[in-house]
Amino acid sequence: MSPTATTRTAAVIGNPVRHSLSPAINNAAFASLGLDWTYVAFDVAPGLGAAALDAMRALHLGGLSVTMPHKADVAGAVDRLAPNAALLGAVNCVAWDRGELVGHNTDGRGFVDSLTEQAGRVDGRRCLVAGAGGAARAVVLALAEAGAAEVVVVNRTRSKAVSASELAGSVGRVGRIADARDAEIVVNATSIGMAGTAAAGSTPVPEDLLRPGHVVADLVYHPLRTSLLEAAERSGATAIGGLGMLVHQAAHQFELWTGEVPPLDIMTAAARSAIGAEA
Ligand code: ATR
Repeated sequence: MSPTATTRTAAVIGNPVRHSLSPAINNAAFASLGLDWTYVAFDVAPGLGAAALDAMRALHLGGLSVTMPHKADVAGAVDRLAPNAALLGAVNCVAWDRGELVGHNTDGRGFVDSLTEQAGRVDGRRCLVAGAGGAARAVVLALAEAGAAEVVVVNRTRSKAVSASELAGSVGRVGRIADARDAEIVVNATSIGMAGTAAAGSTPVPEDLLRPGHVVADLVYHPLRTSLLEAAERSGATAIGGLGMLVHQAAHQFELWTGEVPPLDIMTAAARSAIGAEA
């Protein structure tokens, strides 16, 4: 439906933001449920995340998604933080709660939902996470919260691996990529393999470390089939692409804003076709 004077607006802020799939995913979801909502993207310059939050207050936006480079700034500017967003110091979603703006981080739960849906439970399983940036930190925390037996963090920059592994508490440690052999769940949370980057077509995990029984999850969703996932399939492992996390983290945001059950199939189809349009 076309926006009217009663339409609620949600938005993503980022820089750059023009390739965001969030408008496609959320507008498809609003339309399928007949909700009088619309979702737009705002390119917000670095350093203006807190100002964008003031705009959210002034304009009474119904919800906000937050992406690079604003996740930490917004975490410092909301009225309240959900516990995992406080631990991460990063917010990817802002929602209203009784007149207050609450900062959430839905990335980790989105990842665990996607993993659980496609490869069963996380609890009691040994995990290895390659990467220690914002996405990796959310995944490390969520895996530990989901009851992983071990979360080994491997990263080019060791100091960041130490910090990320601490999010997993007693089950976290820093390791080497060869530790993937002993893990049950192997996650790529680096940008290696992402289209349009210097490391496009590369994989962070050598193929000879992969075997049947491994669950290999890539956070990269463009391309949908990364070199790592192809190697996983050749090795007889279960390969899980990044689209599921993208959709599930968006679904949690949608629910926080609207209180409605997110239409996951519609959101997945919208994400797929938006990636197709991009590629
Ligand atoms: P995001 O918010 O998506 O997690 P990020 O915070 O920039 O992005 O993190 C990117 C991750 O990919 C980091 O772990 C980075 O390693 P460093 O901490 O050493 O920078 C990792 N990464 C990116 N390109 C890499 C490459 N070519 N080789 C190894 N690691 C790489």
